[in-house]
Amino acid sequence: MNPILERQGAYPLLRLDERREELKNKGARLFDFGAGDPREPTDIKIREALENSVPEVSQYPTATGKRELREAFAGWMRRRHEVSLDPATEIMPAGGSKEAIFHAPLAFLHHTHERRGVAYGTPGYPVYERGTIFAGGEPTPVKLTREGGFLLPLEKIDPEKTRILWLNYPHNPTGARATLSYLEEVAQFCREHDILLFSDECYNEIYEGVPPPSILEVTKERTLAFCSLSKRSGMTGYRSAMMAGDAELISALKKLRPSIGAATPSFIQNAAVAAWEDDGHVRERNRVFSEKRALFEAFFERANLDFGRTGASFYLWVAVPDGDDEKYALRLMDEGIVVAPGSAFGKGGEGFVRVALVPSVEECREAVSRWGKLFL
Ligand SMILES: Cc1ncc(COP(=O)(O)O)c(C=O)c1O
Repeated sequence: MNPILERQGAYPLLRLDERREELKNKGARLFDFGAGDPREPTDIKIREALENSVPEVSQYPTATGKRELREAFAGWMRRRHEVSLDPATEIMPAGGSKEAIFHAPLAFLHHTHERRGVAYGTPGYPVYERGTIFAGGEPTPVKLTREGGFLLPLEKIDPEKTRILWLNYPHNPTGARATLSYLEEVAQFCREHDILLFSDECYNEIYEGVPPPSILEVTKERTLAFCSLSKRSGMTGYRSAMMAGDAELISALKKLRPSIGAATPSFIQNAAVAAWEDDGHVRERNRVFSEKRALFEAFFERANLDFGRTGASFYLWVAVPDGDDEKYALRLMDEGIVVAPGSAFGKGGEGFVRVALVPSVEECREAVSRWGKLFL
C-alpha cells in the first residue's frame, strides 16, 4: 500500500457518518447538521436540462468540456464578478471542485522541486492537505484565529518554501469572509514571491448582504479560482465545477487532466449550462439559508453561545463552552442533533462545532428547541 494511505486516518467526517449510521439503525430521529449537503430540491430547469440530454449514443466527454459550458460560466463570471474570461484558454470544467482541488497540485509540484510547500488554513477543508501530500508537496497548515477573522495570516507564510497558497472565502468551516482589500494583499504577496494563488470559491454564492468577491476581480496572474455548482445550485450529486484564471496554468491542467478520467459527462455539462445561466434559483436558495441562519443566530444569542455572524456560507461556527468539541458533539448527538466537531477540520478547529444549515426550516426549529432544553 502507498504509505501515505497507511498514515492517513479515516476521512474526518467519515467517523461522524459511522456514529450517525449507528443511531439511525437504532431508529433514532436525527437532525443532521453534520455534512454540508443541503436537501433543497435542485431547480426544475436544471433537472430538465439533464433529462433532455441523455444521448442515444454515449461517447467519451473531453477534459476541456463543451464550449457552450465554458461560455455559460464566462457569462456568470461577467454578471457576478465583472470579470471577463476567454472560454478557450482561461476556463476548464471539473467533476466537482473536490477532485479539482485534489488533483491541481499534480500539475504544478514535483518531488524534485526545491520549493514545494503548500500553505492553507487550519481549520479548513481537508482536501488541500491530501492533494498536497499525494503530489509530493509539503503541507504547511497555518492556524486561523478568531482574532484574525479566520483570515490566512501572510506573516506566518514562509515565501522561501511556499509554492502554492490556498484561500477559501467564504470559509468552510467558520463562514468567515474576505474583503477585496484582503484579497489584494494576498495577491500582492503571491506576486512578490512567485507563489501560485489558488482560491476555493465553493461558497461564493451562499451569502446575504454584500456579495463575496472572487480572487479573479483582483488578478488572473498565476492565479486560479475553483467555482462549484454543488452549493450554489444544489447539485452536489451532479459533480460539476469550473476552474478559471491564468491561461498558462489552465494549459498545464489541459495537459494533466485527460489522464485522470474526471471529464464531466455531456448530460451533466448540459445541466451545468442551465445552472450557470440562471441566478433566480440561487436567490431562492439563499432566502431559505437566511431563514435557517436567522433561527440559529437568535437561539445562540439567547443561549449565550459564542459564534461568528458572517452571513456567508451555510455554516455556523460555535465556540463550545468547556472547549471539548468532541464531547459536546456527542452530547448533542444523543439528543438527535448531529453537528461536526471542529477538530475534524484540523488542529485549528478544536473547541468549536460546525452547524451546517442542511435540514428543513421546520427541522431547524425543532432542533433549536431540543438544543435549548439541554443547555438553557
Ligand atoms: C471548502 C470546500 N471546497 C470544496 C468542496 C467540494 O465541493 P464539490 O466537490 O462538491 O464541488 C467543499 C465541499 O464541501 C468545500 O467545503
